[in-house]
Amino acid sequence: MKVTIVGAGAVGASCAEYIAIKNFASEVVLLDIKEGVAEGKAMDLMQCASLNGFDTRITGSTNDYSKTADSDIVVITSGIPRKPGMTREELIGINAGIVKTVAGSLLEHSPGAIVIVVSNPMDTMTYLVHKITGLPRNRIIGMGGALDSARFKFRLAEALGAPISDVDGMVIGGHSDKGMVPLTRHATRNSVKVSEFLSEERLNQVAEETKVGGATLTKLLGTSAWYAPGAAVSGLVQAIACDQKKLFPCSAMLQGEYGLSDLCIGVPVILGRGGIEEIVNIDLDDAEMAKMQESAAGVSKTNGLLEF
Ligand code: 2OP
Repeated sequence: MKVTIVGAGAVGASCAEYIAIKNFASEVVLLDIKEGVAEGKAMDLMQCASLNGFDTRITGSTNDYSKTADSDIVVITSGIPRKPGMTREELIGINAGIVKTVAGSLLEHSPGAIVIVVSNPMDTMTYLVHKITGLPRNRIIGMGGALDSARFKFRLAEALGAPISDVDGMVIGGHSDKGMVPLTRHATRNSVKVSEFLSEERLNQVAEETKVGGATLTKLLGTSAWYAPGAAVSGLVQAIACDQKKLFPCSAMLQGEYGLSDLCIGVPVILGRGGIEEIVNIDLDDAEMAKMQESAAGVSKTNGLLEF
C-alpha cells in the first residue's frame, strides 16, 4: 500500500506520522515544492521508526512526481493555511491554482489512485478536483467532517464531564465556520442521547464551539491546526487501505442525496478499498435539513468563484 501526501507542512507531516505509527502502509511519500523540506521531514520521521515501532518506509521528494508513481491513495494538503481572522473561503484564489496543478501531476503518475482533498476551502477544492479530473465520485473524498466530528466529541465530552470514549456524535455540512451542522439531536453518551444530560442551551453552545473549532485554534496558534487534521486524514487513509467499511462524514459529490446535486459537502459515507462505497442517508428533521440547505448554499456560492 503506497500513500502519497502532497504538502509536507504541518498537516502533511502529522498525517504521515500517524499513518506510520498505525503501521498499515508499506510506503509513504511526502512531496513538497520547498527544496529539501519533504526529504528532511521524511528522514526525521524515519528516525522515529525504531522508537515508535513502525516499518512504514517514508521518503521525501522536492516536487518530483515520478517518485509518487503507482500510489494507491494520494492526499492533497498543499496550499496556504489561514491566518487568524481569515475564513477558509478567503484562501480560494491561491489554493485553487495549486490544487489544480497538484491533482493533475498526481493522477498522471497514479491514474488509479483514490484522492483525499484537505486543502481549503475544502468542499470547493474537492469539487474542483472532480471537475478537472472527471474521476468517478467514489474516488474523490474531502476531509472535513471527520475532523469537525472529533472537535464536536471533544466539546461534548467537556460539557458532559465524560470520557471522550463514551461520546459519539457527527458533524455534517460544509467545512466552514458557518456551514458546519453538528447533529446534537443524534449525539450520544454510551447510547443515551446527550439531551438527557445537557440543556438545549448548553448543546447549542457546544455546537457553536465546534463550528469555530478551527478558528479558535488559528487564533491561538497564529496558523491553522495540524494534529487533529493529520489524525483525521490518517483515519480516512486507514479505512480505505484496510477496507474497513468505516462510517465517516466526508465531503462527497452529491447526485440527489439530501436533495442536493452538483456540489461536494459533508455527509456520512462508508469508506473501504473502493473509496466512498456508499453515501448514507440519515433521517434529518426539518431544522437539520434547513441548516444543511443553508450550508449547501454557502458551498455553492464559493464554488461559483472557481475559474476552470
Ligand atoms: C482545520 O479546520 C485545517 O481546515 C482545517 O483545522
